[in-house]
Amino acid sequence: MTTTPDVAGDPHAGLDPARLRHPDSVKWALHPEGVIPMWIADMDYPVAPVILDALRARLDRSVGYPGDPRELRAALKDKLAAQGLTDLPDDGLAFTPSVVPGIYSAINALTTPGEAVVTMTPIYHPFHLATTEQGRRSVGVPLKEGEDGYEINWFGLDNAARNARLLLLCHPHNPTGRDWTPDELDRLRDIVVKRDLFVVSDELHADLRYADTPFEAFAADPKVRARTVTLTGPAKAFNTAGLGIGAMISHDPRLIARLKTGLMGHESALSRTAWQAALEGGTPWLQDTVAYLRGNRDFMTAYLREHLPWVKFFPVQATYLQWLDLRAHPRAHDIQTFLLDEAKVAVHPGPLFAPDAQKSLYEGFVRVNFATSRPLLEEALTRMRDTLNRDLP
Ligand SMILES: Cc1ncc(COP(=O)(O)O)c(C=O)c1O
Repeated sequence: MTTTPDVAGDPHAGLDPARLRHPDSVKWALHPEGVIPMWIADMDYPVAPVILDALRARLDRSVGYPGDPRELRAALKDKLAAQGLTDLPDDGLAFTPSVVPGIYSAINALTTPGEAVVTMTPIYHPFHLATTEQGRRSVGVPLKEGEDGYEINWFGLDNAARNARLLLLCHPHNPTGRDWTPDELDRLRDIVVKRDLFVVSDELHADLRYADTPFEAFAADPKVRARTVTLTGPAKAFNTAGLGIGAMISHDPRLIARLKTGLMGHESALSRTAWQAALEGGTPWLQDTVAYLRGNRDFMTAYLREHLPWVKFFPVQATYLQWLDLRAHPRAHDIQTFLLDEAKVAVHPGPLFAPDAQKSLYEGFVRVNFATSRPLLEEALTRMRDTLNRDLP
């Protein structure tokens, strides 16, 4: 029996769609009223009070050109050191207007047109766009479906790496929610050294993990430091995507100098304030949020196993984005449209996460954002159950 959500004491039980649905939120504004949006990676929760207080104080002071973000840099360096990025030189860290410009800039600076950029697919779609829009080749190596979860296709990856210049790593992985283990990271490091690749390690979801073990950055191992650019930011964990800020990190400051061009522009004063407040005082809020998300993940897992047992999935180890295999459904080829039209639930379609040549591999998959209240999650799952099961053969 699936337990119904226990709303007593649930801090988010009262989230109100009428309030969330506002033109300021693309997540809620894109679809007509009545649709539950579970697509773009925003959480429905209010921003941490510690961030709001810091923003208000900042607005009272100044939003002119900001000074050197010395305190933000120091707080971030402490955090990165705890993830294994110790001994980072000051000029090995530069702030960016968000993470995605760092991906574009790295591809532009570290590869030349026509060169291959390798990723493990399915993958966060701007990885492909940043590659192909700049005339590089996006080579996706599909993850394998193992007994207990998605696994790296080591042979395929090593093979693709032979003729590539750059590996775009998503750690933890969006959209499968894999949290790469230290052993997997070691094997990846061996491949990039053997094949002499640069690595961009997008670690934006690092704070949204459900394991109790500490997060290990890809560049924690000195042997890959000089070839790696790590990207991070507060947008996912602290739900501040609209403020826009990220950081590019490398133990080789020359890489940062190549990536940080004037074209990139600069992060806003408010985003700096928000990130600093998050780093200095946001941990209790983050822990509560991850605990709530874990509860949602577990609720969704139990619900799907009970009511939609034909849906294949591995409960995510990180992120609030659940990857579902609905290929057994007769409408698998346009399952996202079906869910939108019939269940009034908006999800991301699987093919979005693949390069052109591989789109058909992910037909019938969807990515579901479960970072909402437990009651809204239950309502969305109930709608999915009622519509998806109705049309089963
Ligand atoms: C892996 C990954 N990288 C980058 C981004 C976007 O980051 P930003 O908004 O800071 O550009 C996302 C957003 O979902 C993401 O999942």
